[in-house]
Amino acid sequence: GLPPRVRIYEVGARDGLQNESAVVPVEVKAEFVHRLADAGLTTVEATSFVHPKWVPQLADAAELFPMLHDIRGVALPVLVPNERGLDRALGLGVRSVAVFGSATESFAKANLNRTVDESLAMFAPVVARAKERGLRVRGYLSMCFGDPWEGPVPVPRVVRVAKALRDLGCDELSLGDTIGVATPGHVRALLAGLAGAGVPVDALGVHFHDTYGQALANTLAALQHGVTTVDASAGGLGGCPFAKSATGNLATEDLVWMLRGLGVETGVDLGRLVATSTWMADRLGRPSPSRTVRALTHK
Ligand code: HMG
Ligand code: MG
Repeated sequence: GLPPRVRIYEVGARDGLQNESAVVPVEVKAEFVHRLADAGLTTVEATSFVHPKWVPQLADAAELFPMLHDIRGVALPVLVPNERGLDRALGLGVRSVAVFGSATESFAKANLNRTVDESLAMFAPVVARAKERGLRVRGYLSMCFGDPWEGPVPVPRVVRVAKALRDLGCDELSLGDTIGVATPGHVRALLAGLAGAGVPVDALGVHFHDTYGQALANTLAALQHGVTTVDASAGGLGGCPFAKSATGNLATEDLVWMLRGLGVETGVDLGRLVATSTWMADRLGRPSPSRTVRALTHK
């Protein structure tokens, strides 16, 4: 069966904009987040408090976050890799953070300049301090299916790091198909492996990039397995500057179209969302890759 309702965790402003070659003006980012909230999204990841030289596209995080102060009833999580990032975020009143680990050594090195275990050690005080303050903490887990340097990733390796992130105290895990190579059978195998290791399905979200056009099929497989949190990015923006083969995330519009057809509630106003992605595409100077956005705008 399918869940009656799905929580969409919108990542366009973070995963989407971190990957743009041009730096988007902070006013445009602020308007983007406001429009996403107005479209009915209840979780809108806003930005990252990472090293500004590593991700110059999001170096304006401290300027952006206060511009979102008037948004009510919407969670605005941010990425924090380390205590320096957490301190910057706490100073601005952030209430929800995400650390981001990797199932593979190659990506841990490329993305965090650490081994997998060194990154977990870096996250430990971040999660502990955030929980002490009553923040909600998500743990991303990248390269859950395939890695551009290492190839297919065995389920037990993912399970090990997933359990480690849970043990640190993460409320929720997001299973990342960073380069978009997963297929539904692999999704089922991973979810079964995690269930077998005692990781509760209600603590899991899925994060599919759409490189091979499998993101919707993978999402449906995850929903059938009991997952109710799905990451998506408005207009299909996204990628990762530290994994060159990564393309955009599952487009939120494509997800909403499918869920609407299935009678699954999301609370999202599809018309408003499409208008937002079309507006953003104009700012970025290229059309949205989302099939649903294109179909509904006849462009
Ligand atoms: P490092 O070079 O090892 O940093 O980078 P360090 O710990 O050695 O510190 C060096 C200097 O950086 C210090 O300054 C720190 O204060 C400063 P100094 O004392 O030399 O003057 N520094 C910072 N400044 C501001 N904010 C900070 C910060 N941290 C240190 N937070 C580091 C390690 C983790 C910082 C770096 O690797 C980094 O920022 N990485 C971020 C990478 C990133 O954002 N990737 C994209 C997000 S992940 C993703 O997209 C995947 C996902 O979508 C899921 C999926 O698709 O799979 C989530
Ligand atoms: Mg991603």
